[in-house]
Amino acid sequence: MSLATRSTAIRLALPAPRGPLSSHLIDALGSGAPVEHRRDVTSADPFGDDLQLALYVAYELHYAGFDGVDDDREWDPDILGFRRDLERAFLDAVRREVGDIETDVSATVEMDELSTEPVDGDGVSFRLRDTGTWDQFRDLFAMRSVYHLKEADPHAWAIPRLRRTAKAAFVAVEFDEFGGGRGDAVHQELFADLLEAADLDARHLAYLDTAPAWALSPVNLMSCFGLHRALRGAAVGHLAATEITSPPGSARLLAGLERIDAPEACRHFYREHVEADAVHEQILRTDVVGALVGAEPELERDVVFGIRGFLLVEDKFDDGLQSAWRAGVGLRG
Ligand SMILES: [Fe+2]
Ligand SMILES: [Fe+2]
Repeated sequence: MSLATRSTAIRLALPAPRGPLSSHLIDALGSGAPVEHRRDVTSADPFGDDLQLALYVAYELHYAGFDGVDDDREWDPDILGFRRDLERAFLDAVRREVGDIETDVSATVEMDELSTEPVDGDGVSFRLRDTGTWDQFRDLFAMRSVYHLKEADPHAWAIPRLRRTAKAAFVAVEFDEFGGGRGDAVHQELFADLLEAADLDARHLAYLDTAPAWALSPVNLMSCFGLHRALRGAAVGHLAATEITSPPGSARLLAGLERIDAPEACRHFYREHVEADAVHEQILRTDVVGALVGAEPELERDVVFGIRGFLLVEDKFDDGLQSAWRAGVGLRG
């Protein structure tokens, strides 16, 4: 598919609901009926399929939306109210699992710890580097597509909430993510190229229906951080954690793809992230996080919350994918 035909106008239909919360929203969006926002969300598993899909769909109204759904529903107050309940349940659970953040915590120390990685781990990228099959790589691509096809968009919401050096440096990183002025170099498009080279469906959200909660929650967390001014410190911490952990993880995936002689477009996406994110990491450390906590020291704990929240949902992604492989669960429909 050429870039010209790969239009943002291509939107997929609403996904199938996975329980009472997601059907509450998806049925209303599909029929054009109002959503009654007072619905109890507290009995749902905050990391479960039903709540995570409902939240993903609610957030997607701010991105590409869905085929057949009126774009005006982005600002439907009842949907926003329902989404608020979903995100409160999700955020409370993330805070609970992350645990208390010490009052004297240091974002610098936290970022340094992210950089000290074991040579040999047992996470997905280590396994794919050493023994990964092409089908396992294709599972990873399909599950990451709910993020990489809108990579950098969730963080972009944070830009108007930043000032001066932190803003300028944050935008410099996002400029690269958005292709540095070139449409075909937008990282979202590089990932669509990767999907096509891997003979997968490159349409926006094509794998939403098969993506379990563990693949949705990392994206929901970044949308939540980005869309709330009150969580701008967490959004910055999240981007810092993303950029700091990206070069070594991307290098392992690249090594695995080279080992199995995978198509060049697949290697290119990760090679780009080994190189670009090494620079992004330094910008994030000094000019974004450093400048932000220098100007607004009260945000330091939020920055650390963003980093630890990132690690929490990324660990769930890793466990979920490896569990699916062990159980022989198909992830690509
Ligand atoms: Fe990127
Ligand atoms: Fe980056």
